[in-house]
Amino acid sequence: MQNFEFYNPVKIVFGKGQIQQIETLVPQRKKSMLLYGGGSIKNNGVYEQVMSALGEREVIEFGGITPNPQYDKLMEAVEIARKEGVEFLLAVGGGSVIDATKFIAAAINFDGDPWEMLSEHKRTPKVLPFGAVLTLPATGSEMNCFSVVSRGVDKLGFGGDPRLFAQFSILDPSVTYTLSERQLGNGVVDAFVHTIEQYLTYPANTPLQDRFAEGILQTLIEEGPKVIHVKDHYESRANIMWSATMALNGVIGAGAVHDWSTHMIGHELTALYGIDHARTLAVVLPSLLRVQKDVKKDKLLQFARRVWNVQATDADKAIEEGILLTEDFFNSLGVPTRLGVYKVKEEDIETIVQSLRKHIPANLGENKDIDDEKVQKILKLAL
Ligand code: NZQ
Ligand code: ZN
Repeated sequence: MQNFEFYNPVKIVFGKGQIQQIETLVPQRKKSMLLYGGGSIKNNGVYEQVMSALGEREVIEFGGITPNPQYDKLMEAVEIARKEGVEFLLAVGGGSVIDATKFIAAAINFDGDPWEMLSEHKRTPKVLPFGAVLTLPATGSEMNCFSVVSRGVDKLGFGGDPRLFAQFSILDPSVTYTLSERQLGNGVVDAFVHTIEQYLTYPANTPLQDRFAEGILQTLIEEGPKVIHVKDHYESRANIMWSATMALNGVIGAGAVHDWSTHMIGHELTALYGIDHARTLAVVLPSLLRVQKDVKKDKLLQFARRVWNVQATDADKAIEEGILLTEDFFNSLGVPTRLGVYKVKEEDIETIVQSLRKHIPANLGENKDIDDEKVQKILKLAL
């Protein structure tokens, strides 16, 4: 096991009707800003629940945050928050709104261009406190200190800063009933790949983390189809919501060897072609596992046997079966596993590789062996 520090101060308030706890969680006498996306919260009753719990507090609203939140839009919120002397932020939405809120919380007191927090890893002197009401189980942003923001074709992450944890996150599974099948499928796949990227590397004597990860993967496999095919099924919504949070809150990754190359390649596909985050992962992961089969062999076999219960005695056959079952699972959730579906062609691969190198000059992967040539190979295999 690798050395690690584990710290996670986010108070999770989980369950039906829990949005009303905002009443005690949001400070009474601080001027707050309520941040949300394109309006789903105004159509499904979440906005009313939040406003009613906020009561007489002084609150400024800022809506219109898009999926893959854009820097220019977030800077509008930063300007308003500075001018109005906002002291607390409340994110109500999916990963994009929560990530946006983290950026705004950090940018308000940043001297200079806050984009440098992402492009040059500069630190802000102060982060505003914030809380979240999660409406889409997927990213884990509600319980981690990472954020991903886009500026044109640059989609970059920042974080790892303990000041970027929410003070609290409210997780009410019943607010997910209004999610489209597309977003539900995306959420299950994103959580699945978060787990894989912290598990499917090489053995490092982490039996407990491995079994946590396998438990999350099996829960996603069992419960994922139910959220899509059984209408308003509270129990499966609750299990998927908690699994997605647990997949990226630091627990399963502590002391484990990580990869994250599927995410890094995926961010380029979102930035260049507008493909939903999780959909990029579903396309990249199977090909990446095939290209990296030799270096990931032991864990791939463990994954096939323990997660998918593959019986084949021949290791290569068992590994391929595990990858095929993973692809079938993504497809069964309505999430395609081929780049061609998005009209990305072989001649586009060089552009993707160049863009990736601009953002991340070093090789990717747990062994730092995924170079340009391998990225090309992975993308070609995914066409
Ligand atoms: O904007 P509104 O109107 O709210 O609609 C949203 C949006 O169109 C809709 N939605 C959310 N909750 C809903 C709902 N519609 C109906 N009912 C509800 N209850 O869903 C759409 C997608 O929302 P978004 O927040 O963009 O999705 P997601 O949660 O998948 O977040 C994706 C973003 O998170 C980043 C991604 O890169 C992407 O930018 N990630 C953040 C991570 C982190 N902070 O740790 C890790 C992830 O790997 C990921 O990179
Ligand atoms: Zn992700």
